[in-house]
Amino acid sequence: MMRELITQLHTEWPSLPTPAQLGERFAGRPTVEQVLDGVGSLLHPFAEEPQHRLPRVETEPVAAASPAPADRPTRWTEADARIECFPEAVAMRERRQQTDRNPYFLLHEGIIDATTTIGDAQLVSFSSYNYLGVTGHPVVAETIADAVARYGSSVSASRFLSGERPIHAELEQELADLLQVESALTLVSGHATNVSVIGHLVEPGDLIVHDSLAHDSIIQGAKLSGATRRSFPHNDLNALDDLLGVIRGGFRRVLIVVEGVYSMDGDLVPLPQLIELKRRHGALVLVDEAHSIGTVGANGGGVGEHFGVDRSDIDLWCGTMSKSLAGCGGYVGGTAAAIDYLKYSVPGFVYSVGITPANAAASLAALRLMRDEPERLSRLRQNADRFRETARAAGIDIGDSADSPVVPCIVGSSERALALATALFDHGFSVNPILYPAVPDDQARLRFFITAEHTAEQIQRVVDITASELNRITHDIEVSA
Ligand SMILES: Cc1ncc(COP(=O)(O)O)c(C=O)c1O
Repeated sequence: MMRELITQLHTEWPSLPTPAQLGERFAGRPTVEQVLDGVGSLLHPFAEEPQHRLPRVETEPVAAASPAPADRPTRWTEADARIECFPEAVAMRERRQQTDRNPYFLLHEGIIDATTTIGDAQLVSFSSYNYLGVTGHPVVAETIADAVARYGSSVSASRFLSGERPIHAELEQELADLLQVESALTLVSGHATNVSVIGHLVEPGDLIVHDSLAHDSIIQGAKLSGATRRSFPHNDLNALDDLLGVIRGGFRRVLIVVEGVYSMDGDLVPLPQLIELKRRHGALVLVDEAHSIGTVGANGGGVGEHFGVDRSDIDLWCGTMSKSLAGCGGYVGGTAAAIDYLKYSVPGFVYSVGITPANAAASLAALRLMRDEPERLSRLRQNADRFRETARAAGIDIGDSADSPVVPCIVGSSERALALATALFDHGFSVNPILYPAVPDDQARLRFFITAEHTAEQIQRVVDITASELNRITHDIEVSA
């Protein structure tokens, strides 16, 4: 929330220091008054009093009698009428110009699994969430071809009207079986599933509480809903309990949103404790399993399977088919009655096209491959554990990553993370840097996605090179400081 506030402050007053500098200035848990004083003194450094009253945006009262157009005060400039002139767009362009090698939008030429091709370079990839390595599998490709031949490339309508096809029901049944819930529903995007479902379930007068590391789709859904939003420190369910103890009574519905595996840290939600807490506070729980479906649990059934909980203790299991499940689209699972309600009412389903036959077929085939070839899940787990052990032994800070295929290498600043990603690229490895504001600057990192297809040798080599390059970069930065 502090990061969001800083971004908004900077958008409102671009003359303020950069968001990263503001982040440093307001590190910790400043009070509202401290932030106001700090921003006031940055904007008006010579004022004697704290600048609480500054700077306020003057707006016209909506109901004011309209003055003649010539006299009407105006708040807009030419820059407000051209997207490319928005201060935030200009600032982004300038930021990008400061780096000589843009790490984003690199062009991968073919299928990305344990390896990838970028331009002329053959790289070992730790940057895709093709966890089970089935994207591009011949069976997946064949199933897609059959589905397209049969149903076409698009279902050309909302399923609510004429977009329903047999392959949708087949996929949803497979998903429900894996999740061990009564029913499941698929939507065209994982991100849109969270936005639309969360945005739909609660409203002003209700409360959404989410983990502080929640994915953007959860935040957007919460904002859309109009419900009051609070976050709790990452995986700290005691803090969540305390928070609900104080404020639960002031709200009608409370929706707690967590992730099965956290996509930046690779740790799991403490699910049994959450279920106990949910019951006591009369709350709903939605678990986003984007990175835990097809990776966690003996059969890839996610954190519910991993912790052995009764799946009906959670209200909604959401997730995406774009990671382990080799496709594109989101899903939501729960009781038959709850899913039936969503099927007739969630805007992102009712007013959007049904998922394409190709995507439904891809995920259907991936689900079946995962069931028929359980060694894929075992290899994924062995590789992730091997990576963690090797990285720890090499002195790399991998945070709390455990039982998942997401492993961060926390390096302590965006500058180091960017330099390390570039160095690894030059050594033949594709690994994504995660920089401020996606994480606080002192938590900047490289994020390794481990797959079932990696070899022990690839893992050992990338860890060795990461450790030695990190030492070199740290030394160079210290020398030049
Ligand atoms: C936790 C989480 N939820 C939702 C999504 C959105 O899924 P998709 O990219 O399939 O739209 C992602 C994507 O990375 C994610 O990490």
